[in-house]
Amino acid sequence: MARFCILCLIAFISVTSAQFIPPYTEDCRTDMYPPKGPTFKGTVSWYTIDLDLPPHKRWTSLITEKKKDLDNMIQVIRDLAKAFVPSGRLIELVDVTLPLMVNTLPNPFKDEIKGIALDSGIPLGEITLFNIFYEVFTVCTSVVAEDSKGNLLHGRNLDFGLFMGHPRVDSGQRDGMWMSFLTRSVLENATSYDNARYALAQTKLLAPAYFILGGNQSGQGCIITRSRELSLDLLELNVKLGRWYVLETNYDHWEEPFFLDDRRTPAMTCMNKTTQTNISIKTLYDMLSTKPVLNKLTTYTTLMQVSEGTLESYIRDCPNPCMPW
Ligand SMILES: *[C@@H]1O[C@H](CO)[C@@H](O)[C@H](O)[C@H]1NC(C)=O
Ligand SMILES: *[C@@H]1O[C@H](CO)[C@@H](O)[C@H](O)[C@H]1NC(C)=O
Ligand SMILES: *[C@@H]1O[C@H](CO)[C@@H](O)[C@H](O)[C@H]1NC(C)=O
Ligand SMILES: *[C@@H]1O[C@H](CO)[C@@H](O)[C@H](O)[C@H]1NC(C)=O
Repeated sequence: MARFCILCLIAFISVTSAQFIPPYTEDCRTDMYPPKGPTFKGTVSWYTIDLDLPPHKRWTSLITEKKKDLDNMIQVIRDLAKAFVPSGRLIELVDVTLPLMVNTLPNPFKDEIKGIALDSGIPLGEITLFNIFYEVFTVCTSVVAEDSKGNLLHGRNLDFGLFMGHPRVDSGQRDGMWMSFLTRSVLENATSYDNARYALAQTKLLAPAYFILGGNQSGQGCIITRSRELSLDLLELNVKLGRWYVLETNYDHWEEPFFLDDRRTPAMTCMNKTTQTNISIKTLYDMLSTKPVLNKLTTYTTLMQVSEGTLESYIRDCPNPCMPW
C-alpha cells in the first residue's frame, strides 16, 4: 500500500515536468458503488494490532508478513534521496540524525518505532522517516455528512503527493506533537466526541493541520483548522442552518482555492446535487469518484458509517485523461 504511494509520487514528478495539463473535470458520477471498473484496484486488507502487547512487539507479525514490501518501499525512498543528493549525504543524515529524534518521542511511539526497526532490520532513522513521511506528503478530500435520519457518514480520498496549499509561515521553538501521533492518541484514548475535539483543537503541534472529526450523534461533525499553537477556526455541522456536511481539501475553508488545484468546488457541487435525503455510503463513493476529486494521486477511498460500524477502504486508480493532482 505505502509502496504504491511512493510510485504515485514519482509518476507525479515526471508528469508535471513533461507537460502542463489543464484541470480536467467531469459531471458528478453515479452508480460507481459497489466499487468496480478501471478506477477500482482492489480492497485493503484488514490487520489486527493487539494493543495489549508491549509496544515493541505490537507490529512484529505485520512487519514480518510485509517485510518484502517494506524493503522495496524503503529502497524507493533511498533512490529518491540519492537522485536529489547523489553523494548519499541525505540518507546519511537520516540515518544519523533521526534516531536521535526517536528518543525524544513519547511512548508508545518511541518503543513501537524501535520495535519495527528491529523486526524489519531497516535502520531506525529510515523507519522514522517513513513514519513522518505522511505529514508532508498527504493531501486529502474529507467530508463528514449527516443524513436525514441523523446518521453520520464520513468519506475521504487520500491523495499522496506534494503539498499544494499555502502552508502558513510559522516560527519559534520546534516543540509540539506530530499530527499522526496526536491522531493515533485520540483514536486510542479519547472517550467522547467532545473530548476528541478538545484534544485536536488544543494540543500543540509541530506544523499547522486540518482535522476532520465525526461523532456518533446528530450534529457531531467538524473541521478544526489549526496553527501550531492553537485552533484558528471550528466549522461544525448545523443541519438547521442547512449545513448538513462539512468538507475539507487543503485550503482554509474561508479562502478561495487555487484554481489549478480546486477539488473543493467539484466535491461540493456533487454533495449539493446529491442532497441530504440521498446521502449514503454509495453516493459518497460517487462524489469521491468524480474527477478531479479522484485524481492521479488518489491512493485510496475510505467510507465510514458510525451507526452501522462500517469502514470500507478501496484502492483507486485514475486512468487518463486525469488530473495529476
Ligand atoms: C493511551 O492511554 C494509555 C493509558 O494511559 C497509555 O498507556 C497509552 O500510551 C495511550 N496511548 C497513546 C497512543 O497515547
Ligand atoms: C456514542 O459514543 C459515546 C461515547 O463513546 C457513547 O457513550 C454513546 O453510547 C454512543 N451513542 C450512540 C447513539 O451510539
Ligand atoms: C453548496 O451548497 C452550499 C450550502 O447551500 C453553498 O454554500 C455552496 O456555495 C454550494 N457550493 C457549490 C459548489 O455548489
Ligand atoms: C434521491 O433518490 C431517489 C431514489 O433513488 C431519486 O428518485 C431522486 O431523484 C434522488 N434525488 C436527488 C436529488 O438526486
